[in-house]
Amino acid sequence: MNKILVIHGPNLNLLGAREKSIYGKTSLSEINRSLEQTAKALNLSLTIKQSNHEGEIVDLIGSGPKNYKGILINPAAYTHTSVAIRDALLAVSLPAVEVHLSNIYQREDFRHKSLTAAACVGQVAGFGPESYLLGLRGLAGVLKSAKSSRKGSTQTK
Ligand code: DQA
Repeated sequence: MNKILVIHGPNLNLLGAREKSIYGKTSLSEINRSLEQTAKALNLSLTIKQSNHEGEIVDLIGSGPKNYKGILINPAAYTHTSVAIRDALLAVSLPAVEVHLSNIYQREDFRHKSLTAAACVGQVAGFGPESYLLGLRGLAGVLKSAKSSRKGSTQTK
């Protein structure tokens, strides 16, 4: 079973109470429950972390290669500011998928730029909590095709 590290960035612990007109009423624990259900159906196991601290997120990403096959991350506000998180994602050779509840491209100009997305395989934004589930499915697909291309390469040897 592939292990995935899920990282929720700053202020996402406040989901359900925070700016409900943008982020909705679903709490982080409800999102985590849906993620666990989807992971089960995809035969993935999840470790889920939330942090308000940039360095802690960098450390979590750095712990990735030893323990996980992929990363699902909502870097939240750090999406738009953190060279350190981008560099951490680039430093580990793990596929990562970036997710956002809101459509960041419909919002204030400063949210239109993601520093972290280029270090990820893909990005899902604008579907509310469903963004996480879509992102997890995308990541599962990436891992599956990596596995089948590894098999293919051993078969041709
Ligand atoms: C967010 C979008 C970010 O711009 C914002 O700072 C967040 C949440 C989202 O999920 O829509 O905290 O990442």
